[in-house]
Amino acid sequence: MNLLSRLLKGIGGFILLMGCFSAESIDKRSKGDSPDISLPLPGHDGTVSVERALFNRMSIRTFSDVSLSLREAGQLLWAGGGANVDGLTGATRTFPSAGGLYPVELYLVAEKIDSLAPGIYHYIWKNHSLRQVKKGVFIDSIKTLTYSGAFRNAAVPACIVAAAVYSRTTSKYGERGGSRYVPMDIGGCGENIFLQAVALGLGTFIIGAFDDDSVRRVIGAPREETPLYIMPVGRR
Ligand SMILES: Cc1cc2nc3c(=O)[nH]c(=O)nc-3n(C[C@H](O)[C@H](O)[C@H](O)COP(=O)(O)O)c2cc1C
Repeated sequence: MNLLSRLLKGIGGFILLMGCFSAESIDKRSKGDSPDISLPLPGHDGTVSVERALFNRMSIRTFSDVSLSLREAGQLLWAGGGANVDGLTGATRTFPSAGGLYPVELYLVAEKIDSLAPGIYHYIWKNHSLRQVKKGVFIDSIKTLTYSGAFRNAAVPACIVAAAVYSRTTSKYGERGGSRYVPMDIGGCGENIFLQAVALGLGTFIIGAFDDDSVRRVIGAPREETPLYIMPVGRR
């Protein structure tokens, strides 16, 4: 590689990196009144091995009434779709994604999380923070929109809702992107959250049966986002 192309590559990488962390690029949606909430930095060295987390993974559908910490909530969101290290292309994410297009958006429905007002929050993965979408208590509304009896009857301190922007992937891959790649991407994201919950000693399960439009409205997601997973999270 000659000197000029190396230089151009270096400048390109720098611009890409700046783009990843500049405030404007964080989220195209309008910011609410409240400032974004920085989450505690995610840990990268837990004490539970991947093998142990896989061995212990199972759906947990009943939780204690005890709140989650903000660190735990942030760790789950990071596992689901936070930034990880890739020196070549800038910040990549914790789940693999077809074409690196990352169609997934994560929402936290918080009811009992220490130091966090009840509400709906959008996870801003590029700077590991939460942007408040709505204030208030919404878990009961979400419960009534699912077809999961177990969830309806459980005490649930928080839920993570994973939604997908299909057009991010179909604009490059067409029908195959929508029917195959988006579900594969979101599967990786859901499994990451699941294994992280096990490693933190928390419980979760996946709900796929719910009224899509109503859940989208409750979490305040834009029309282009389709909610695909609801993951209630709590202490076992
Ligand atoms: C895509 C998907 C959708 C699911 N939807 C629901 C659901 O709507 N309600 C529910 O109670 N469980 C749901 N589950 C949980 C499964 O029932 C559960 O994973 C399965 O019974 C295996 O149990 P295990 O997770 O303990 O291994 C879903 C799981 C997946 C992967």
